[in-house]
Amino acid sequence: MNVTKIAVVGTGAMGSGIAQTAAVAGYQVAMTDVIPEAVERARAGIARSVEKLAAKGVITEAQKQAALGIKTAGDLEPVREVDMVIEAATENPDLKLRLFNDLDRIAPPHAILASNTSSISLTRIASATNRAEKVIGMHFFNPVPLMKLLEVIRALATSDDTLATAVEVGRKMGKEPVEAKDSPGFISNRILCPMINEAIFALQEGIGTVEAIDTVMRLGMNHPMGPLTLADMVGLDVVLFVMQVLHRDLGEDKYRPAPLLRKMVDAGYLGRKTGRGFYTYTD
Ligand code: 3HC
Repeated sequence: MNVTKIAVVGTGAMGSGIAQTAAVAGYQVAMTDVIPEAVERARAGIARSVEKLAAKGVITEAQKQAALGIKTAGDLEPVREVDMVIEAATENPDLKLRLFNDLDRIAPPHAILASNTSSISLTRIASATNRAEKVIGMHFFNPVPLMKLLEVIRALATSDDTLATAVEVGRKMGKEPVEAKDSPGFISNRILCPMINEAIFALQEGIGTVEAIDTVMRLGMNHPMGPLTLADMVGLDVVLFVMQVLHRDLGEDKYRPAPLLRKMVDAGYLGRKTGRGFYTYTD
């Protein structure tokens, strides 16, 4: 299927990064969020990001202007005339199911409905629509403009054409698509979140300080950031949610969320987005 118009639903860090990358790749993009401040923050973030990328020669002036020209909305109106929707709303199953039900009613019949979910079953999301063959997971990574991976998740009823289109769109966006099964956490979060969770257990047990744990993984394993810095970037609420999904759906104790992780989420220490997580952020 030929995709020219994309709507991104949800303008947090992931949604705005996806919208920016799609616009830079030449798609006509609209992004929408029910929270007006989130749309404004996304606009400002995209402007900062493309300014940097253009100054470094990573993108051209025309690509920068395309990203600055992304249309915005506070409702699902833009979805009426697109070929693909990429949903990047809050990681809440009830909300996503309701949203996909709405998207199914509003989007044109030919449109693909993709979700950037990090752990919710795509087959379950597809069941909220009457176009299960056109529902697929397109899982991007933060920060989207820089990270090369696109994890593509095929639900039970996803068609070959939908899969091929998602892979093609991902490649055009400069990503390397990798297919994963619709299993809890897919490939990425089945491995990443337990590693972060284990780092939190190590902290809780006093095996090392925050800095020590991060330094070990940066310098000993050549990870670009330590697991606790990464948890702050991803959001501690997201890490907790993924661990709860793994624990519940795979039914093994090894996936139990660290009590310290639960406590920090209860306290509202969600990482960068709230200014406090394992580190404190002033910017
Ligand atoms: N747009 C444009 N430029 C950006 C940017 C953005 N969104 N984000 C960072 N940059 C720039 C920085 O400004 C910096 O530019 P400068 O060199 O001119 O100052 C440059 O990129 C490099 O950044 P830093 O110097 O801050 O640090 P790094 O060299 O470590 O690179 C990083 C940053 C690419 C984020 C790297 O640390 C990294 O790869 N970290 C791991 C990220 C990761 O694991 N992401 C996946 C998270 S999991 C996920 O998203 C899935 C979910 O389901 C949980």
